[in-house]
Amino acid sequence: MSEQFNTELFHAKLYLGPEKDELFETGPWPKPFVFNEDVVRVFDDMISRSVPLYREVLACAAHWAKDYFQPGTRIIDIGCSTGTFLELLGRFFKQPTALVGIDNSQPMLEKARQKLIETQQIHQLELICANAENCSFENSSVVVVNYTLQFLPLQARQKLLNSIWEGLTPGGLLFLSEKVKSPHPQFQETITRHYEAFKAHNGYACSEIERKKEALEDVLVPLTEAQQIEMLRASGFSQIDSPLKLHNFISLVALK
Ligand SMILES: C[S@@+](CC[C@H](N)C(=O)[O-])C[C@H]1O[C@@H](n2cnc3c(N)ncnc32)[C@H](O)[C@@H]1O
Repeated sequence: MSEQFNTELFHAKLYLGPEKDELFETGPWPKPFVFNEDVVRVFDDMISRSVPLYREVLACAAHWAKDYFQPGTRIIDIGCSTGTFLELLGRFFKQPTALVGIDNSQPMLEKARQKLIETQQIHQLELICANAENCSFENSSVVVVNYTLQFLPLQARQKLLNSIWEGLTPGGLLFLSEKVKSPHPQFQETITRHYEAFKAHNGYACSEIERKKEALEDVLVPLTEAQQIEMLRASGFSQIDSPLKLHNFISLVALK
């Protein structure tokens, strides 16, 4: 029975850089928050200790990618950062596949290039340094946007979703993960407290959590889940679901 299922990703480790995120422990920390060289240096540790279910989300996205990939098309990771998802995907896809990573931070892509040396030996890998808003997504059957749309101005988010819709082949899939906020102030307060407890559990001091929160203000502007879904609908997606949610982080899948 189990032979019908590919369970390899449930055990797969992520390839994460070793440097500990202590950026917000002592000054000067990036305020407002930017993906500069200091952040890039510790980014893998930062994201894996700051995003609930980070490993599970990447494994889940890889499973969805496998199910919706159409041979001869591309898989695009927008906001690929240091290439962690593409590296995982590269191990999961046994056939040579066209993998594209887009990020507007050159230092991120330099790290990604190092991480993806083996991936590149098997797959057709393209890393593009550009603003996602200016990119074309044509001939893609899977587009992954994990924790990146949230950094764009609202109008640019809609524009980006529109061009993802345009570029996806019929039957293609968007996998989108975002920080969200609750429409109910009391729940927002509770969820935030739970999220901050999660960060504290992962070794961040209260002062670090506070400083990072301040640095992200007006830089990472979360929508509610309903607003996010509305934006997807406005782009043309009608079949939408949410395979994962914990605290104030959600993953959505949307089919063209
Ligand atoms: C939180 S990180 C994404 C994490 C990554 N997807 C992962 O799962 O590890 C956000 C990334 O988006 C990139 N980014 C921000 N705005 C962008 C834009 N307009 N176009 C392309 N990349 C952008 C940043 O440089 C950063 O690497």
